[in-house]
Amino acid sequence: MPSSFSSDNFSVSSLCKTLMILGLLLYLIYVSLSNQYPNCPASDFFSPIRKRALPTNESSMDSPTNISHLVFGLLGSVPSWPNRKPYIESWWRPNVTRGYVYLDKAPTDQDLLPWSKNSPPYKISENLTDFVQEIKGIYLMNKMVHGIKEVFREERENLRWIIMGDDDTIFFVDNIVDVLAKLDHNKYYFIGHQSEFIWSNFWYSFNQAFGGGGFILSYALAKALSKDMENCLRRHAHLNGGRNSADMTTMACIADLGVDLTPHQGMHQIDLRGDISGFLSSHPKSPILSFHHYDVLEPLFPSKDRYESARHLMKAANVDQSRLVQQTICHHRDKNWSFSISWGYSAHIYERIMPRSYLQNPIETFTTWTPSPHPPNYMFNTRMRSNDPCEAPHVFFFESIEKTSRNEVLTSYSRASPRGFPACASSGNHSADFISKIEVISPATKRIETDRCECCDIVRVDGMKAEIKFRECMVYEIIA
Ligand SMILES: *[C@@H]1O[C@H](CO)[C@@H](O)[C@H](O)[C@H]1NC(C)=O
Ligand SMILES: *[C@@H]1O[C@H](CO)[C@@H](O)[C@H](O)[C@H]1NC(C)=O
Ligand SMILES: *[C@@H]1O[C@H](CO)[C@@H](O)[C@H](O)[C@H]1NC(C)=O
Ligand SMILES: *[C@@H]1O[C@H](CO)[C@@H](O)[C@H](O)[C@H]1NC(C)=O
Ligand SMILES: *[C@@H]1O[C@H](CO)[C@@H](O)[C@H](O)[C@H]1NC(C)=O
Ligand SMILES: *[C@@H]1O[C@H](CO)[C@@H](O)[C@H](O)[C@H]1NC(C)=O
Repeated sequence: MPSSFSSDNFSVSSLCKTLMILGLLLYLIYVSLSNQYPNCPASDFFSPIRKRALPTNESSMDSPTNISHLVFGLLGSVPSWPNRKPYIESWWRPNVTRGYVYLDKAPTDQDLLPWSKNSPPYKISENLTDFVQEIKGIYLMNKMVHGIKEVFREERENLRWIIMGDDDTIFFVDNIVDVLAKLDHNKYYFIGHQSEFIWSNFWYSFNQAFGGGGFILSYALAKALSKDMENCLRRHAHLNGGRNSADMTTMACIADLGVDLTPHQGMHQIDLRGDISGFLSSHPKSPILSFHHYDVLEPLFPSKDRYESARHLMKAANVDQSRLVQQTICHHRDKNWSFSISWGYSAHIYERIMPRSYLQNPIETFTTWTPSPHPPNYMFNTRMRSNDPCEAPHVFFFESIEKTSRNEVLTSYSRASPRGFPACASSGNHSADFISKIEVISPATKRIETDRCECCDIVRVDGMKAEIKFRECMVYEIIA
């Protein structure tokens, strides 16, 4: 009946009102109580949003990330391995670092067998012939992207981060651990960096990690990506080409999951050629994580070959990766000199006072990876090489490292060659030609989570030697 219908309606709406008022009252009581008892467990009932987004089986919040939670997947080949092996062995820690080199087929060459115990163990990449034919893809590219799934499948146990690289990528493992230890592997992370060469980014993508410099996937992302692997390769089969297209496909698959690249300035594709000492002498204030194209560049140290150079750099890296190639600048007012130290790698003396913002720009000692259509070429500002005595540095390279009796670290840098210019006249004609060695004392403690660079003092300049001591910058200190 219409009347009973309307009266029912009425009672329903009045009941609703009553309930609403009661609910409001309860809520107000709850709010006032929970402010007094913030630990009251019932609070979860009212605020489901505050609950953890992802269930985790590991007590990830309690146990800090260490080297055992990282797994490396290095993409190699039998023909290139003899040449690449010494670079990888310079940073690989047998029975400590986890991971594999992925090869197309088992090595049969007597040069490679028995497989070196100081190398990562090898795995044979999955045979994707049928799949690649089906999607009309290119084998190499699909193999590289699919490698992520193969690493994940192999090493799921106690895994937090997967690091993918090439067999000519050098990694700085301690720094990687320190960077990753601050992040939650149960969240989606895709960490890497662009190419140094603007055009590579333009031709491929500004959003991709260039895989030679390595890229890092959190457990959560690696898992999601592995689950979707074949589908995503199928979806993006049109992105076909060489190495960088594999990186573009990886980025596209990750973008499909709603995740973007987190750039890290310490990962280096090194799309540069020749002498990269200018680049490494003005490294950004960010821990160095990786380094690629080692096999193509001129040796990092002019008096050593590539193999020796890698081992030599590792002498410093094995003592303190947190300071490695970090640029520290100080000025010698008596002589109007600027010192720029790239710890564990190089030291420069300029015969005039230069501000940090200027010295941060690398000297263009290198060229581009492939011919450039036109400048600008680099993702950073550069300084030109110069014959001006007020502009050209005296160049020194890392020579030795030792612990001092006062629990400090002493690195020394020796002159590469005579500079061959007169003194800089406009700043007082104070030649630095007589300096043949620079000694740097730094604390034995690592610097992590730092918001500023380190500062330094010139302790002494006498005989043929300059002595410099690192310390934290003072609160209002100006480096100019
Ligand atoms: C959590 O880990 C334990 C062993 O560590 C295992 O037995 C259990 O199945 C795991 N639970 C889930 C939900 O993965
Ligand atoms: C790394 O952390 C795990 C706990 O997740 C611990 O069992 C292991 O001993 C640690 N390894 C190193 C090398 O510190
Ligand atoms: C690594 O461990 C294996 C077995 O635990 C051992 O046989 C091998 O000698 C170790 N390798 C190195 C380089 O210590
Ligand atoms: C890979 O698989 C294809 C087709 O299944 C086969 O013809 C080829 O011999 C396999 N390659 C290797 C190296 O096993
Ligand atoms: C440092 O250079 C400035 C000019 O840039 C000059 O005026 C000053 O005298 C120089 N100081 C010394 C100690 O030579
Ligand atoms: C600078 O020093 C050189 C060598 O010590 C000297 O020959 C020259 O005259 C000096 N120039 C000036 C402008 O003081």
